[in-house]
Amino acid sequence: MSMKFRSVAIDGPAGAGKSTLARRLAEKLGFLYVDTGAIYRTVALAVLEAGTDPADEAGVAALLEGLDIKMAYGPDGVQRMYLAGEDVSEAIREHRVSGVASRTSAIPAVRSFLLDFQRKQAQEGSVVMDGRDIGTVVLPDANVKIFLTAAPEARAKRRLLELEQRGQEADFDTVLRDIQERDYKDEHRPIAPLKRAADAVLLDTTQLNLDQSLEALLSLVKEKIGP
Ligand code: DC
Repeated sequence: MSMKFRSVAIDGPAGAGKSTLARRLAEKLGFLYVDTGAIYRTVALAVLEAGTDPADEAGVAALLEGLDIKMAYGPDGVQRMYLAGEDVSEAIREHRVSGVASRTSAIPAVRSFLLDFQRKQAQEGSVVMDGRDIGTVVLPDANVKIFLTAAPEARAKRRLLELEQRGQEADFDTVLRDIQERDYKDEHRPIAPLKRAADAVLLDTTQLNLDQSLEALLSLVKEKIGP
């Protein structure tokens, strides 16, 4: 890993506000924001489009060989994902992709395929990178490691609001169940499970709104890497 760039690793469960906060934090710091969930989602979309069974590990591994995924920043500085040259940044947000991503991200071949991909992003500049195993596996030498979490009910409420704002229908119980299932899968997979790195600072945002969470994050970062 290059020493000239700084890195902030933010890990935590689904719906803790990681992506919104990481993006805002990156803006404030003038760092690039890397949403690694989007990268896993792009692989999941490829699996879906190929009609490969996500449970078929060998099939998914074979598909990786010819996989053409790219990440780039639009003129607005927002990360976009490309699959075989096509911009899939919106398509990867669909619910059906979340379910498949949770399964394919547990496949060792997928994780090792994406490891270099993610590390390369941190060699391009200073980054705020969010995911599940950034502080533990992808950037173990990150300057700052944060484990961001919130109670499942608070996360479900936020996700519901997000879905509604996108015009998608959902109900609280379904969203909560979904979050609990994904937590379980992410925490119990044998490879790179979601867990707090020993040197990560825990930030629980259950009682905090977005601005308060951002303030808390900023002061944590400044404490570690200076203003
Ligand atoms: O954060 P997200 O919901 O966009 O992530 C999509 C899936 O990818 C989720 O099931 C967890 C997985 N993921 C992972 O295993 N490792 C990462 N670094 C990022 C995401």
